[in-house]
Amino acid sequence: MVRKQISKILRASKAAESLVECTEDKNARPLSLSGHVGFDSLPDQLVNKSTNQGFCFNILCIGETGIGKSTLMDTLFNTNFENFESSHFEPKVKLRAQTYDLQESNVRLKLTIVNTVGFGDQMNKQESYQHVVDYIDTQFESYLQEELKIKRSLHNYHDSRIHACLYFIAPSGHSLKSLDLVTMKKLDSKVNIIPVIAKADTISKSELHKFKIKIMSELVSNGVQIYQFPVDDETVSKINTAMNGHLPFAVVGSTEEVKIGNKMVKARQYPWGVVQVENENHCDFVKLREMLICVNMEDLREQTHTRHYELYRRCKLEEMGFKDTNPESKPVSLQETYEAKRQEFLGELQRREEEMRQMFVQRVKEKEMELKEAERDLQGKFEQLKRLHSEEKGKLDDKRRSLEDEINTFNKKKAAADLLQGQSFTNSNSNAKKDKDRKNSGFM
Ligand code: GTP
Ligand code: MG
Repeated sequence: MVRKQISKILRASKAAESLVECTEDKNARPLSLSGHVGFDSLPDQLVNKSTNQGFCFNILCIGETGIGKSTLMDTLFNTNFENFESSHFEPKVKLRAQTYDLQESNVRLKLTIVNTVGFGDQMNKQESYQHVVDYIDTQFESYLQEELKIKRSLHNYHDSRIHACLYFIAPSGHSLKSLDLVTMKKLDSKVNIIPVIAKADTISKSELHKFKIKIMSELVSNGVQIYQFPVDDETVSKINTAMNGHLPFAVVGSTEEVKIGNKMVKARQYPWGVVQVENENHCDFVKLREMLICVNMEDLREQTHTRHYELYRRCKLEEMGFKDTNPESKPVSLQETYEAKRQEFLGELQRREEEMRQMFVQRVKEKEMELKEAERDLQGKFEQLKRLHSEEKGKLDDKRRSLEDEINTFNKKKAAADLLQGQSFTNSNSNAKKDKDRKNSGFM
């Protein structure tokens, strides 16, 4: 990886030199040195710095449960990672990331392996890829947030962006599943996809050949862009061109060692023979290891940063309203965009405030009208009640008056009756006296 980086830097400095040559008339005057100065050690300085810092590489393994993801990772890195067998009954796809510190010679590698748990086991297939897309975006977002911080610490930031996505295709020999196509299509602008045919020992040689052609034509016809090994670097262009023609790699994984001749080799043993993982006549495992780890690891990291992350960042910043040019195609600085956005925001705020004020006034008016209406209603009802009350009162007064008249008449009649009764009593008393006197005088 380090050697690869040196060659890249050298190529870059060559390109820079030619750029300087092109612009030399305007900006810089080429001078030759009369002795050794020492800046030719810059590439070494860079290599030392990178080696001391260590590297990080993140692999995403997408494939259905039990397709051989963990076995292939163990085989690729010649170790035993922590592996958990997944169940086929996961309610949704989960992404499980595990990070390991590895060392080879003096090069330290922080390796993260992300596994899709329960991929393709749900009835709703959209659920399967959406979680993967979200996971990749979340890692980009974390990096962007770190980049946008005032106090950034990118040099010791644990970069969790996915550098390579190994997509495990089931060795059906038939065609890609719709889930494979949809998932790869959704991911191809976000990650470097390297498709692999898993458990390639379960498919015959002729079927495998046809299967590879079928897969590639299906990917092309569905517009799925898989990762192409770079061919612009002359040191690796030959091997990368050849390897691009072998995609998708048909792989076999095994950590079991079998004695072949006098050598122990990684293999899978069957009653009819032994499949040697590292035998290029048996499968493409070596090609994958070579391409993924030995030749193109740095390019995968670079592509992730310069292509996929850049796209994510651009879309995100555009979504936030940042642009490099204005509608007249003139360059706009970040400060100008910020100011324009701020003004736009303040304008919007004022508009909203005015809208709310208007709404409030309107509401108050409506409420006032409602209250007035209610007051009118009440007044009407009050007047009506008052009228009814005075009518009732009038009637009662009339009744009272007639009753008083009746009482008066009655009293008069009663007084007359009493008088009459008094007179008749007086008369009867005098008559009785007369009778008594008569009796006493002898009339009786
Ligand atoms: P989960 O993590 O549970 O989803 O499974 P996985 O995709 O990690 O598969 P794992 O590596 O655990 O392998 C599942 C089974 O497939 C094991 O029995 C492996 O031995 C077997 N297996 C793995 N690789 C190959 C292969 O290349 N060929 C064959 N025939 N079997 C394989
Ligand atoms: Mg596993």
